[in-house]
Amino acid sequence: MPIPARPTFATADPRWQYRITDDGSPTLVQTSTNDSMHSGCGALAETRYVYLVGSGVESRLAAGQSTRVLELGFGTGLGWMVTAQAAIAHRAPLFYLALESDLPPAAVIRQLDWHRFIDNRDLVDATIQWFADVEAASGTQTATPPLVFGNLILEVSLGDAATWCCGPMHEKYQLPDQRFDAIYFDPYSPESSPQLWQSDIFAAMHAVANPDGRLASYCVNRQVRDAMKAAGWNVAKTVGPPGGKREVLVASRS
Ligand SMILES: C[S@@+](CC[C@H](N)C(=O)[O-])C[C@H]1O[C@@H](n2cnc3c(N)ncnc32)[C@H](O)[C@@H]1O
Repeated sequence: MPIPARPTFATADPRWQYRITDDGSPTLVQTSTNDSMHSGCGALAETRYVYLVGSGVESRLAAGQSTRVLELGFGTGLGWMVTAQAAIAHRAPLFYLALESDLPPAAVIRQLDWHRFIDNRDLVDATIQWFADVEAASGTQTATPPLVFGNLILEVSLGDAATWCCGPMHEKYQLPDQRFDAIYFDPYSPESSPQLWQSDIFAAMHAVANPDGRLASYCVNRQVRDAMKAAGWNVAKTVGPPGGKREVLVASRS
């Protein structure tokens, strides 16, 4: 089936364009590479089904369980906001660590108008303010300020995820009480970011996952699945989001 032409617009920063995906929610597209931050079939649908449902986070939060999420690729912050909204609804504590090399400017995030898709206005406002604070602090601080929102904590480690995976920051999260229940593995495609889809990266993810932890991703490509298996993950394909990819990926640690 031919890919539909999706409405695409300029943003406040020429490095990004915004595009309306098929479920009406927006995503960002990097102008120089045409890399899209979400599936054109639906940014919100992908976030909910591939990541929250696929990783088991949705059912953990629904049961009120305290949950720790690691995301590779913070992008627009949509993964965080959808997860945080579910945590708030079920009064479940959430710790969310994201790795990101190129945070979009707050002015661009504002243009996405997440208020239309995330009911919790205060959460969206706090997240946009956090983008603005990081921007204002850039160059003066090495670590980004965390966002604390009730019993939810967002931390973002800025820089190359591959460096994080083999450095001292990673070691801290191997401790049993610091590991993650879920990993949202969401970099750009293996064609755009081949270095992130390798078994050493998946081994680093494995080392910081809880024994019953799960990793979810949109990519089911054969080489990626082989690299995950080589790193110790049990890999399965599962049904994709409504209107989206036929199959997506879920890997379990145990
Ligand atoms: C598919 S988008 C993630 C979308 C995001 N999960 C969301 O909900 O908006 C991929 C993200 O990975 C980031 N990225 C690309 N290479 C990276 C690297 N080497 N280390 C960390 N982040 C990287 C990009 O800047 C981009 O924001």
